[in-house]
Amino acid sequence: MTSGRGEESSLPAGGPARHIPVLLAEVIAALEPREGAAFVDGTFGAGGYTSAILETAGAKVIAIDRDPDAIAAGQALVAQSKGRLTLVSGVFSELDVIAREAGCEALQGIVLDIGVSSMQIDEAVRGFSFRFEGPLDMRMGQIGRSAADIINTADAEELADILFYFGEERQARRLTRAIVNDRAQTPFTTTRQLASLCERVIPTKPTQIHAATRTFQALRIAVNDELGELTRALAAAERALAPGGVLAIVTFHSLEDRIVKQFFAERSGRGQARSRLLPGEPVPPKPTFDLEPGQPVSAGAAELEANPRSRSARLRFARRTDAPALGLVGAWAELASLPARKPVSTKTAPGDPAYNRSTSDRSASSQSPGKGRPNKSGGR
Ligand SMILES: C[S@@+](CC[C@H](N)C(=O)[O-])C[C@H]1O[C@@H](n2cnc3c(N)ncnc32)[C@H](O)[C@@H]1O
Repeated sequence: MTSGRGEESSLPAGGPARHIPVLLAEVIAALEPREGAAFVDGTFGAGGYTSAILETAGAKVIAIDRDPDAIAAGQALVAQSKGRLTLVSGVFSELDVIAREAGCEALQGIVLDIGVSSMQIDEAVRGFSFRFEGPLDMRMGQIGRSAADIINTADAEELADILFYFGEERQARRLTRAIVNDRAQTPFTTTRQLASLCERVIPTKPTQIHAATRTFQALRIAVNDELGELTRALAAAERALAPGGVLAIVTFHSLEDRIVKQFFAERSGRGQARSRLLPGEPVPPKPTFDLEPGQPVSAGAAELEANPRSRSARLRFARRTDAPALGLVGAWAELASLPARKPVSTKTAPGDPAYNRSTSDRSASSQSPGKGRPNKSGGR
């Protein structure tokens, strides 16, 4: 059994594994479920967090997943819950609307476990894994533009941006040239076809991650608009939580973790010296979250041993204050829009030699490296 988000660890024998929830004890400790309280699990998956919350008598859960397979598999838990679990097919960026429609206005906790489940990654037909031959799909919701659609139809600039920003792939330009060249002969239809191209273009040593790792991550993020979903979900959670309610987010890669970290830092007013404002300087809005100490939380030795895929998981959580929600404005709003979203980090960016292109040949690279990065004023 596996936790479902790494590509490097051993694969299950005999078909898709059931998902093991990561950082389960830590997530439940952060949420503090109690009788009568309502929670949103925005990433139901195999229902690991939801089941644990429901163990508290009288606690209610509104669980969301965009994958119809997860919703179908969850019906047994719905039946067992005796009305305490509402399972909704939808996206977590709309969690405030979904919770309201389910009759919950004031939530005591929201949890998001970002990424794919074991069932998704280990099911060859879903096309998430470069290790299995399958259709180049990667759609969690099973609708919309597939990975093959992007690879076969995106123009070279969009493709290079996706690989560079969403995969942090330094060979984005080389890979893009090879893809554009190959697809003119034969369109890409399968996972192994694309993985073979990556192996050909990026020679790797056995000690390094597989040549296709970053490309597959980039495509998955693009296909499912994962960073846009996350950014909008942060704002939805800020609107939906009752004062004192907790937002807990488990991420699996640095792009997502950086967004969550920056959101919490900004919304908790970290770094703002309110007493030192100069006369006439605008007073910053009141913090909407209190950051809990000791973060991020990662898996301990026992969990790492039992489940090596948990090693990249990071939990961050914060408690809602009674200040009015601030919403997504400025740079945060830019982050939530496609295409050519900028990375939150300034470390690698269009000016980076790795990107290997002039600043005049494309709109995205003509922007400064920091553009799109929320800052103290931009996010309010
Ligand atoms: C890592 S798994 C969650 C596993 C879950 N915590 C458990 O214990 O079984 C992530 C799940 O979230 C779903 N998901 C990802 N992005 C989503 C989104 N934007 N809206 C709704 N569900 C999403 C995926 O389909 C997948 O089933």
